[in-house]
Amino acid sequence: MNSKTVLIIYHSKRGTTQKYAAEIAFYLKSKGMETKVTSISKFKAVDIENVDYIFFGCWTSGLLFILQHPEKEWVEFANKLPQNLLAKTALFTTYKVRTGSMFSNMKKHLKSKTQEALLQIQSRNGELSELNKNLIDKFIE
Ligand SMILES: Cc1cc2nc3c(=O)[nH]c(=O)nc-3n(C[C@H](O)[C@H](O)[C@H](O)COP(=O)(O)O)c2cc1C
Repeated sequence: MNSKTVLIIYHSKRGTTQKYAAEIAFYLKSKGMETKVTSISKFKAVDIENVDYIFFGCWTSGLLFILQHPEKEWVEFANKLPQNLLAKTALFTTYKVRTGSMFSNMKKHLKSKTQEALLQIQSRNGELSELNKNLIDKFIE
């Protein structure tokens, strides 16, 4: 059994990213990991203490084909995070057309706060694909 701890923090307006967060949590729990899910609005700094992995998720905002970025609420959340978090870091998003610059913008806001994100996964409908699962497996091994 893998007894590592995971915190999944998401920002969702219409529920797709919330669903994706829940699917990621379900999968990680099936791998024996102790997994907690929270929205950015319910997030408390104490939640982030001593976790082995953090998954940061936000829905993709932009002009459908260009200028993708996390929404203002997520940026404000990222700005308030403590510096130098040691947990292994992953990013996830949901989108309709393309994620474009979404992940690079999320990374920009997490710089100096977290470790470099070594996993980035995305979904159109909030479902976790087999490819996503394989990428998660590599990330947590
Ligand atoms: C204002 C707005 C801007 C959006 N911009 C993009 C975009 O640039 N690229 C894209 O692929 N999807 C875009 N979308 C679609 C959302 O990213 C997608 O529906 C997402 O799954 C919503 O997540 P949620 O259900 O968790 O709120 C946009 C949606 C809205 C409402």
